[in-house]
Amino acid sequence: MTQQIILTGDRPTGQLHLGHYVGSLENRVKLQETHQQFVMIADMQALTDNADNPEKVRSNVIEVAMDYLAVGLEPQKTTMFIQSAIPELAELTMFYLNLVTVARLQRNPTVKSEMQQKGYGADVPAGFLMYPVSQAADITAFKAGLVPVGEDQLPVIEQTNEIVRKFNSIYGDILVETKGVLSAHTRLAGLDGKAKMSKSLGNCIYLGDDADTLKKKVFSMFTDPDHIRVEDPGKIDGNMVFAYLDVFGTDKAAIEEMKAHYQRGGLGDMKVKRYLLDVLEAKFAPIRNRRIELANDKAAVMEIIRMGSIKAKEVAAQTLAEVRRAIGVQYF
Ligand code: TRP
Repeated sequence: MTQQIILTGDRPTGQLHLGHYVGSLENRVKLQETHQQFVMIADMQALTDNADNPEKVRSNVIEVAMDYLAVGLEPQKTTMFIQSAIPELAELTMFYLNLVTVARLQRNPTVKSEMQQKGYGADVPAGFLMYPVSQAADITAFKAGLVPVGEDQLPVIEQTNEIVRKFNSIYGDILVETKGVLSAHTRLAGLDGKAKMSKSLGNCIYLGDDADTLKKKVFSMFTDPDHIRVEDPGKIDGNMVFAYLDVFGTDKAAIEEMKAHYQRGGLGDMKVKRYLLDVLEAKFAPIRNRRIELANDKAAVMEIIRMGSIKAKEVAAQTLAEVRRAIGVQYF
């Protein structure tokens, strides 16, 4: 069997954070060694709920690009590009929109929960409601068989496959079904103990955070509110410092020992927080430093993305040509 192609992407509505890192970026860095990989900065999708704030989307394109390069995505191995630079994706979306119903989109669990979060109700922008269709265009344009995403995106992948099956059954076998790939840690809790690290909740550590900010954030993490004096027995469950150590710590034995000590009593929060800070510094200081270097030459970063966009456009144009031929919309 030929090697499967990977496509994935992020909405440029802010810098990427540790939730993105464990949920998908780390995985992508590994996958680029074995697969042909496309990573897209989904500015068109970001505009579906930011139409009135295009500057936010525009300015975050470069931020996300720097995050990609800083974590170790390499332009020779991963084609990084901007969604709006590929109008072919919008054209595919138009063809696919006829293969889904509004009711089905409204039932999509990802769309549903995002609509609730944003309080849209019936006044949802049409573009937002149909973003899973545009995402199906992103994925199928590259004939991607694998899509590394966070688990909240799985219903969107399912909807992509419904579109693929419908398309192929009407127009012939052109499009490829796809599969979501989850990381080992699919969801990182927020600093405040909320289930998800998310920009809108303001509980994030960003890849670009400087050492001082990281320290402040770690020291402010939610622990066990009943663990008041050092001698008190403390709880591990729901304690973010230990939750993060489970995800990022490498010395599992030392961590187990600290957990036992904390539960017995006699281990203070500050000590565990300092330990976590060391762990995070070791892992993320090199990424932060690369990001600073990249920020010093933004033109070079944009050139990488421009070249990637040229390459991605060629691939998407080929699929679009096949799609047009299959539907029969070729008149001249
Ligand atoms: N919806 C994704 C997110 O919010 C971003 C995205 C757009 C994407 N197009 C994609 C992800 C295609 C995977 C594949 O994170």
